[in-house]
Amino acid sequence: MQWVRPKSVPVGQVWSRFKGKERDGQPAKMYQIRDFVEKYRTVCLDLMQETFLRDEPLCHVLNIPNDPESIETIRKNWETLLDQQVSLACFTEVNGEPDELVGFNIVYVKSKGDPDDDIINEKGKGSQNVFKTLIAAENMVDVFARYGVDKYLSTSGLTVLPGHRGQNIGARIMAAREPLCKALGIKATCTVFTAITSQVLAAKNGYEVLAVFPYSRMKEQGVDLSRCTTQLAKVMGIKYNF
Ligand SMILES: CC(C)(COP(=O)(O)OP(=O)(O)OC[C@H]1O[C@@H](n2cnc3c(N)ncnc32)[C@H](O)[C@@H]1OP(=O)(O)O)[C@@H](O)C(=O)NCCC(=O)NCCS
Repeated sequence: MQWVRPKSVPVGQVWSRFKGKERDGQPAKMYQIRDFVEKYRTVCLDLMQETFLRDEPLCHVLNIPNDPESIETIRKNWETLLDQQVSLACFTEVNGEPDELVGFNIVYVKSKGDPDDDIINEKGKGSQNVFKTLIAAENMVDVFARYGVDKYLSTSGLTVLPGHRGQNIGARIMAAREPLCKALGIKATCTVFTAITSQVLAAKNGYEVLAVFPYSRMKEQGVDLSRCTTQLAKVMGIKYNF
């Protein structure tokens, strides 16, 4: 990927702060969503490996958590995407400072002319099938043409720790893309949302559905997703007016 974060937007910014919900008699916590920075690399990737791979519907149905080759391939892919330094991390906040990491979204910028990903040829049967599915969904929309842009923000994996779910933190993380895009001069965002929960949250955030990809179509490519808890992926995006 050719895009590089401009020096005029230094890494380390906090994009949003918000109060969560009171739960189980416990007072609401404060949260902050901020730039991923290098010192969090391992803890963020561990959270993704542990939580996202276990709970995301495609990874779950394709048994990725029990497939070391697929885990290695996916983690290597995430490592590369993190290098663009636009990923978003959600922490609990104590005295204005980040405390516990509770959510993470791998974010990257796609530019027109980026070379095609060779990821489906990397080792790991399960990861190959995940990437084949994502690519099939993604190929339904030419985001550059649809939004008239030469680059846009995309994402690959969003998760919130189970103990902090139910407060729409995922939606807050998605919403943080707006000030991030504004600062970076990026006018659109688009993601293949693979889970009903993230599709609901994206709709709440004003994302429009650009295409729908029923997982049953993957049968043509020899991938059986009939036991997946979500039946289809939605390609959803926003063209910002700034
Ligand atoms: C996606 C994820 C980050 C969302 O966590 P969260 O921000 O805590 O989400 P919440 O639980 O607050 O909200 C989810 C929403 O989906 C709704 N939802 C869940 N299942 C639903 C269903 N079957 N039909 C309709 N709505 C559903 C919930 O009701 C809730 O909406 P509400 O607040 O209006 O009630 C979290 O579920 C997660 O980490 N999942 C595992 C990884 C994953 O699947 N990531 C998305 C891949 S694109």
